[in-house]
Amino acid sequence: MSPGALPGFRDFYPTELAERSYIFGGWRDVARRYGFVEYDGPPLEPLDLYTKKSGAEIVDQLYNFTDKGGREIALRPEMTPTFARMVAARANAMRKPVRWFSLPQLFRYERAQRGRLREHFQLNMDIVGEADVSADAELLAAAIDVMRVFGLTSEDVVARVSDRRLLNALLAGIGVTSEQLPAAYAALDKLDRDPREVLEQRLAAAGLSVQTAAQLFELAGATADEAAFSQLVDAAGATAEWETLRSYLDHLESLGVRDWVRVDLSIVRGLAYYTGIVFELFDAKGELRAICGGGRYDTLLESLGGVSLPALGFGMGDVVLGELLRVRGKMPASEPAVDVWVAYGDSGTVEDAMRVAAKVRARGRSVEYALGSQKLARQLKAAYAAGAKQTLVIATPELSANEAMVRRKDEKVELRVQLDEWIAGA
Ligand code: HAM
Repeated sequence: MSPGALPGFRDFYPTELAERSYIFGGWRDVARRYGFVEYDGPPLEPLDLYTKKSGAEIVDQLYNFTDKGGREIALRPEMTPTFARMVAARANAMRKPVRWFSLPQLFRYERAQRGRLREHFQLNMDIVGEADVSADAELLAAAIDVMRVFGLTSEDVVARVSDRRLLNALLAGIGVTSEQLPAAYAALDKLDRDPREVLEQRLAAAGLSVQTAAQLFELAGATADEAAFSQLVDAAGATAEWETLRSYLDHLESLGVRDWVRVDLSIVRGLAYYTGIVFELFDAKGELRAICGGGRYDTLLESLGGVSLPALGFGMGDVVLGELLRVRGKMPASEPAVDVWVAYGDSGTVEDAMRVAAKVRARGRSVEYALGSQKLARQLKAAYAAGAKQTLVIATPELSANEAMVRRKDEKVELRVQLDEWIAGA
């Protein structure tokens, strides 16, 4: 058996790491443009941080163990509980709203499949201390701007948005009780994945009548016809909730991202702590899993740290995003790493190459040369294989001590240069 990474874990060879760095670069760029500052937390946390707050699906997927001190520990499966814990601990001293971002590696024992691994990186952007819907709009605009920074358009990606407060009011309007809400949410969440009969059976087991179950499925598609939907909202007495969602959409228009967004009441999000507007980003063809998901969680900080502050955020994974960029041809090929290759001829030794390399590196350029002693022809082959942008040849019988020949990649002509001058301008 050849040793390999564990199932669902990745080896990042330089090509894959270049792709990861490209994604991280875009994430950091957008987070900075929106005024977010970076933080991090520990990759291991007390188990009960998740068992109490994250919801059953994530708890089933935890990597957990007892440490040598007898503590129950878990590898972080998501960042939100850590973020909420950290902010809650210092909330009084912080300027609000808090706008923080992080790029954690997360671990979930999932069935590895397309777009789902057992480790992934996430961009997390979260805001604390702002209850107004403008904060929700700001966050979704940031998530969409990440798509733009990678060259994707509203033809490639759609943001599906909903509001749990509106959904709760509408569900109450068709007779779903608060005890039945988790089952109703779970059915909506699985609408695209599980067969209708299976969902109906689960709803029946939770005590929903056949008629209520049918109305629930209708609700999921109801926003397509705005006039009919308004009637539904009126009938359920959910006008205030609908108005909030409407002003969210207006803000998204002002932020220049409205054409990416669609209201879709089947977006409920699997995690237990969301309380208001929720959203997910998907590839428009619907072939991949969600790229990103988030929403408002106004009660989590209070339950973790005793400070009552509204909060909201999202997580965007690198796996689905990377896959989408590759299938759309938007993932750039990795750049050759080395700027200059120093080769030496028969009149010199590797020591001469070392002295020149040291000076060029001091100018900030990346430099390689053949280690050990090699013939010039072999050194030039190595320079070519490394994709060096420039090759500098020193110490051949035709050159004086302060001379070199320089050739740029993909150019035929060689230039004779004064070595000191060339290094000073490198
Ligand atoms: P989530 O929906 O569990 O939310 O994850 C967010 C995104 O992370 C998903 O849309 C997906 O792209 C990626 N992701 C999740 N699990 C995996 C996996 N096993 N393999 C690859 N990618 C994955 C959260 O984690 C929330 N804590 C987000 C949040 C932040 N809400 C508020 N603030």
